[in-house]
Amino acid sequence: MKLFAISGSLRERSFNTALLRAVQGLLPGGIAVSLYGGLAELPHFNPDLDADPAPATVAGLRACIAEADGVLICSPEYAHGVPGSLKNALDWIVSTGEFTDKPVLLINASPSFMGASLAQENLAEILRVMGAKLPDAALFAVPGVSRKIGADGALEAETAQALKAALAAFVASI
Ligand code: FNR
Repeated sequence: MKLFAISGSLRERSFNTALLRAVQGLLPGGIAVSLYGGLAELPHFNPDLDADPAPATVAGLRACIAEADGVLICSPEYAHGVPGSLKNALDWIVSTGEFTDKPVLLINASPSFMGASLAQENLAEILRVMGAKLPDAALFAVPGVSRKIGADGALEAETAQALKAALAAFVASI
């Protein structure tokens, strides 16, 4: 089984990206996850550019989603919404439908006690309208994330255990 992971943060020392980096060590054996590194290189979505052939970076993203058995999206919340660069990426997937019936796990982290829950609700709605499958256990919030990840990117034990359980439930639902 292959998973594809997208971080909604472009920040070098992003907590959300750190969570996704920790995922490989928490997945059941035999499951590989690859972390998307092309978010900043995608062009601004423009329906006039959404033609055949698609821009190479867009085609690359679409292929990664199409080939994955499941997608993990881990994103911060900006002004109570989805970061623009992540929404831009998702807009490129609307016309070609790679999210149709694709299992998606949302893992959203914020230093606040709310844990990016507003962005997460919004992301869930965007993905559902695009046809993604969000299983019951598909929403995993990490409030107070700055206290839960060390400078070395290591997750504190309780969060690691909870994330491991959420990943196991997600994988079992695929
Ligand atoms: C934020 N942050 C934030 N946090 C939150 O819980 N709700 C919010 O609406 C916002 N809004 C917001 C806007 C902007 C422009 C920035 C830069 C930040 C704080 C945010 O959660 C925090 O910076 C996280 O550390 C960002 O995630 P990464 O980059 O660490 O993954």
